[in-house]
Amino acid sequence: MCGIIGYAGPREAQEVLLDGLRRLEYRGYDSAGLAIVGSSLKVFKDKGEISKLSSSMPQLRGHLGVGHTRWATCGKPSQQNAHPFLDCTGQMAVVHNGIIENHLALRKKLIDEGHVFTSETDTEVLVHLLEKHYKGDLHAALREALKEVKGTYAVVAIRTDGRELVAARKENPLVIGLGVGENIVASDVTAMLNYTNKALYIMDGETVVLGPSKVTIYDVDGRTVHRDPSIITWTVEDAKKGGFEHYMLKEIFEQPTAIHNSLLESLDELESGTLMIDHDAPSIKLVACGTSYHASMVGKYIIEALAKIPTTVELASEYRYSPGTGEGPLTVLLTQSGETADTLAAAREARRRGCPTLAVTNVVGSTIAREVDRVFYTKAGPEIGVAATKTYTTQLMAMYLLGMRLAQMRRAMGRDEIRELTSELRGMPRYIGKVLDRAHEVEAATDMLVPARDVFFLGRNINYPTMLEGALKLKEISYIHAEGYAAGELKHGPLALLDASTPVVAACVKDHTYEKMLANISEVAARDSPILAIGLEGDADLAAVADSTVSVPKVNPILSPVPLTVMVQLIAYYTARKRGCPIDKPRNLAKSVTVD
Ligand code: G6P
Repeated sequence: MCGIIGYAGPREAQEVLLDGLRRLEYRGYDSAGLAIVGSSLKVFKDKGEISKLSSSMPQLRGHLGVGHTRWATCGKPSQQNAHPFLDCTGQMAVVHNGIIENHLALRKKLIDEGHVFTSETDTEVLVHLLEKHYKGDLHAALREALKEVKGTYAVVAIRTDGRELVAARKENPLVIGLGVGENIVASDVTAMLNYTNKALYIMDGETVVLGPSKVTIYDVDGRTVHRDPSIITWTVEDAKKGGFEHYMLKEIFEQPTAIHNSLLESLDELESGTLMIDHDAPSIKLVACGTSYHASMVGKYIIEALAKIPTTVELASEYRYSPGTGEGPLTVLLTQSGETADTLAAAREARRRGCPTLAVTNVVGSTIAREVDRVFYTKAGPEIGVAATKTYTTQLMAMYLLGMRLAQMRRAMGRDEIRELTSELRGMPRYIGKVLDRAHEVEAATDMLVPARDVFFLGRNINYPTMLEGALKLKEISYIHAEGYAAGELKHGPLALLDASTPVVAACVKDHTYEKMLANISEVAARDSPILAIGLEGDADLAAVADSTVSVPKVNPILSPVPLTVMVQLIAYYTARKRGCPIDKPRNLAKSVTVD
């Protein structure tokens, strides 16, 4: 996600900010910038690398400033959309991480009041709100401005006549680094470890006034908060991973936030009938590669169940060379990177065939956005581990949203039904949190997989693709040969391979395939294969047939792929870790495959 850094102290702010921005690079970004208070307020920002920005920038003198690395979510990567933003008078600058949900309404109101906007971003409303509320006290203006805002933020602001910066946090990380005669504010401690190891973590709803020798934290009601600093013992490398051993594990644990962010504005758009598409479609075709292909397979179940529209799924590398028949279905291209060569070629082919196209991607400004009619952005934030995790579960969110949108348009679901499912979706970050709380149990359960040469992943119905994804994760990062199978197909081949040295991971939730799945697990047990079952909490029947069971909270069966996916991610992760594999960078694999 985006990175923030702010500095107040005796050093040249430019040096500290550029150093901090470089240290935040690992979070992923597409543009960067900084603002420094010297004889006046100066801003430098651009699309692209920090090295480019720093080499094109003149020396700026000044001891107070803010910097930002941007990962585009609202408005494409460009110089205009990069942070910091200035108000109309050019006297204040703002950097922000998060999403301002009601930015369109605020923007309209502010424009009516005479404010002039220079970017497409949601963030820019913040600086104009600050300008509107400023009456000589920047902190008071920030508190007033935030009262008008719906959404999430870590925000830092400075003024040309000030010696302090002000900041606030809601659902986006913000930490203060306490130095001697100097203080830093940042998104994470990596940006400050060069200067101090004393950190004050800011909590949701708090605001901060930070000067060179004083930091004051205020609670929601404006009362000052006393907090003792924590001493950071991490190295820079540890800090980048937020204390997790690998990026993949960090990203698995970021899923509650990624899902929350991906749903935020979308559920409102669904409610108002403006989400993703504006035409009903007679049929749907989902096209993707790799993990995104598995999300598409889950998508087929979702769309057919919710909207009752015939849906097909194709691998992009096959679709682009297929003959193509009939009139054009709505063709949905799923690609987390937006750069996969086969998926891009498939998008072009779909348009050539006259199909309306929709892309689902996690990268604003990626190539796919230029190849399709409509784009839906997931908001997982940058993913660094090669194995896709949070980008996958947010793609699943996109599939639920699309399913409901189509169902809404053709009245396949009533308003109440949609509302009920929406409220369950809103609860998803909490369910995932419960799965993550049990990570240590999953870790223990993976012992049986560690020595294996081959592992089978079995599932049925909507969790058949979940298990394909589980098998893919395991083979990618642990180098164990793993195959996902529809459990009903067991007797048509794989049964011949099962014995005591071939463990089976089986997903079994209480839907209409439950009894069949239990029977399949018993068939496996009869061949002496060790069984690791993934089921719902309190399922004694499942526990009785499996050697080991890990469970997820009870959810509506159609939503079960989400917690089950987190479970298979953890299973793959801990197995690979026990085997000592290079989890974040598996051999021969790339995060984004731009060749075909
Ligand atoms: C590569 C990545 C996979 C990804 C696939 C498709 O193989 O290693 O994790 O699923 O490409 O990527 P896309 O960006 O199109 O989703």
